[in-house]
Amino acid sequence: MNIIVVKDSIAGGKKASELFCDACASGAKVFGLATGSTPVTTYQYLVKSKIDFSNCISVNLDEYVGLKPTDEQSYRYYMEKNLFEFKPFKKSYLPEGSAVDPEEEVKRYDQVITANPIDLQLLGIGRNGHIGFNEPGSSFDLTTHKVALTPSTIEANARFFENEKDVPKYAYSMGIGSIMKSKSIILEAFGENKAVAVAKMIEGPVTEECPASVLQRHANVTVIVDEAAAAKLKK
Ligand code: GLP
Repeated sequence: MNIIVVKDSIAGGKKASELFCDACASGAKVFGLATGSTPVTTYQYLVKSKIDFSNCISVNLDEYVGLKPTDEQSYRYYMEKNLFEFKPFKKSYLPEGSAVDPEEEVKRYDQVITANPIDLQLLGIGRNGHIGFNEPGSSFDLTTHKVALTPSTIEANARFFENEKDVPKYAYSMGIGSIMKSKSIILEAFGENKAVAVAKMIEGPVTEECPASVLQRHANVTVIVDEAAAAKLKK
């Protein structure tokens, strides 16, 4: 793992956006994208950059089950407002939260990922070490699946909703098996509440109890952390 420690999320977003621009210049065409508060600065820098995604494809990690693309808390809405309205892609894929048949939706999304092998995948990390919505205990072999969110993830994500009870209980998530097939990965983590998860991901054992630890087995991972998120690293 290549670990880059930066001062704060602004410097981290700048660095990640530079890596996106480098990848684009080297011919990357399919970008795996993430949501949450962490990648916001990356998207801000990308919006300001000269990068042109109009011949590229984006494939997002996850979406809440039950939310329509127009719901302000949906990840589709987040992506439109943070990136796609300013830097459109040729085609942007996310799981469809309001899909009528979950089994069909999971199959459809796996076909999307298979047809569009990801060149560069952007990830955040949950406080419990989850990536995408692959919660602790998720098999490393999983492809797209419907997942029940853990109480700690529901609590952590409640800040984006009016009430905690409004947070969807289920999500569709790209599986770890699919994430690991990405040619390269950038994981960003900012703030002291990510420090334990970051230390377990980088220096702990590779275990399904900390889903992000699987990244130790990937050949091309760059971790961008601020000083607060790096605080519990020993080396
Ligand atoms: C959410 C998302 C993840 C994200 C994580 C951290 O549950 N599904 O993709 O990385 O939580 O979110 P944040 O960046 O807001 O801390």
